[in-house]
Amino acid sequence: MNTLLARLLAQTNIDWPPVAPEDGTFWLPPQASTQAPQTDLAFYFIYWVSVFFFILIVFLMTVFVFRYRRRVEGEGPRVNVTHNTPLELVWTTIPLILVVVMFYMGFRGFMDLMNPPADAMDVYVLGQKWNWNFTYPNGHQDTELHVPVDTNVRLILESQDVIHSFYVPAFRIKRDAVPGRYNKIWFKATKPGEYLALCAEYCGTQHSDMLARVVVHEPGMFEKWLADASDPFKTRSYAEVGQLVVTKRCGGCHSIDGSANVGPTFKDLFGSEVKHTDGATVLVDEEYVRKSIINPQAEIVAGYDPVMPTFKGQLKDREITAIIEYLKQLAGMTSTLSDVGRETEEAAPAADAAASQPTETEKDSE
Ligand code: CUA
Repeated sequence: MNTLLARLLAQTNIDWPPVAPEDGTFWLPPQASTQAPQTDLAFYFIYWVSVFFFILIVFLMTVFVFRYRRRVEGEGPRVNVTHNTPLELVWTTIPLILVVVMFYMGFRGFMDLMNPPADAMDVYVLGQKWNWNFTYPNGHQDTELHVPVDTNVRLILESQDVIHSFYVPAFRIKRDAVPGRYNKIWFKATKPGEYLALCAEYCGTQHSDMLARVVVHEPGMFEKWLADASDPFKTRSYAEVGQLVVTKRCGGCHSIDGSANVGPTFKDLFGSEVKHTDGATVLVDEEYVRKSIINPQAEIVAGYDPVMPTFKGQLKDREITAIIEYLKQLAGMTSTLSDVGRETEEAAPAADAAASQPTETEKDSE
């Protein structure tokens, strides 16, 4: 029976065996976590049960329609069958067993996903319109999710504004990020490589752009990546770091080539004058940029919606300086700090320490 089915399926585009192989199937992407096989098994079990009953029911329906059709005008039923105990037992028991098996598969997978192992590495995931922000155990924040292979990772999800949903199809994990509460989910990646995380809850105009790169590192490489990513100033100038931060954090809403987007373009913005919704005209200088990042709702540029979230606590003071230097470059100015970035390496710990004091930024934003 199985081989006959396999032979028939080989002539179609339907994948067989039904459990996803290395490169994914028609329905599902490649399996890249320990949870993936059990999820796919449940999916394909339900899928093939549905296919089987769809064919059976449509076939019987067609047969009965022809076989028991009314042949003569005014013809009544020939035999009036009201009851058949064996038949009713069969069509009750078999579906009952099938749905109990489905429930068991789903419940087991759900319980597994909801209960992270105790030795898991924690990564905080913050959803906001319209990007993801990941905080690593050493405090480093990034817009990409990097994890070591064969390691249990626990994601602690929260949202800054509306409900988002963190979804990594290759890991078969999906969980809502809800404002005002922490949700958890975990996974263990099995294959080094790059994957995609999506937002699976409609959250506004840029919802479909709310993507994040997921990188699973070979053993030992994760620590190296984290050390380098934690201090981008080590190997880059301020303007270069600024470009990095802008690409990652601002690019979803602000263009750098003059084209219109959710927010004003960054091209030729620095040094120009912008008109606010309250009618005031303001010069874009260092302090203006800083205020726009920390407290974006205070003043809104005319013609734009007040949709930008605050980056207070997410960007260090040094990173804001780097953005300013990059904006100067985009306006055709010479960045005053373009060459000194690498030389100020020594001052980095002091600057970071100052940036992490919450009182300073809190005072300013009020
Ligand atoms: Cu966030 Cu959709």
